[in-house]
Amino acid sequence: MKFPCRLDKFVSHLTELPRTKVRGGIKRGYAQVNGEDVSKFDVSITQADEVTWQGERLHYLGKRYFMLNKPKGYVCANQDELHPTVFSLLDEPNLKDFHIAGRLDIDTTGLVLITNDGDWSHRITSPKHEKYKTYLVETQDPIEEHALEALRQGVQLHGEKALTKPAIAERLASYQLRLSIAEGKYHQVKRMLAAVGNKVVELHREQVGHILLEDSLEAGHYRPLSLEEIKLN
Ligand code: URA
Repeated sequence: MKFPCRLDKFVSHLTELPRTKVRGGIKRGYAQVNGEDVSKFDVSITQADEVTWQGERLHYLGKRYFMLNKPKGYVCANQDELHPTVFSLLDEPNLKDFHIAGRLDIDTTGLVLITNDGDWSHRITSPKHEKYKTYLVETQDPIEEHALEALRQGVQLHGEKALTKPAIAERLASYQLRLSIAEGKYHQVKRMLAAVGNKVVELHREQVGHILLEDSLEAGHYRPLSLEEIKLN
């Protein structure tokens, strides 16, 4: 939300009431600005103004940032006809203003960053900024040394011209690796493993840029990012 903004827009944003309803309410005297009754809906509001609606103070919460431990079965979308969305796991006001900084597939678990700050999420997701995303990957077949080497160098994804950018790939067990990639192409990790003749059976995101999924955050739970985490990215 940008300030200064009109009173009707401000109230509609915070109450989630349609603009026409808000205008009717303003005419009926539901709104006060800095203790004064206001009957015009185009009054200009700044963040310093105290706005009340039907006697209740409306607080603009500003930019907010959350980390969520996504469980399987939830989609990274604002709306979905078939499946629950990750937003249904958040108990926060004004969720319609929020978006996901880097989606995960429905069957992928782990770190999802959710914010209403478009500049911040752009810094996380834009390939130009090369933020590494780290995944724990379980595979169908054993991970061979030559496959690890190919992932590190760059592989040819189906339907793409350029090779993937160099990745960090570390084998943790015969069927498990940790993979860090600086890009975020559609189904990238699954396609990278397919490109080396293997198949992903479990995928979990542990880290995005400098932000690590907190161990104690159970699947389906979320928490606000700390100031430090916000600034690191
Ligand atoms: N790569 C994938 O293939 N799926 C994800 O959910 C994330 C990265």
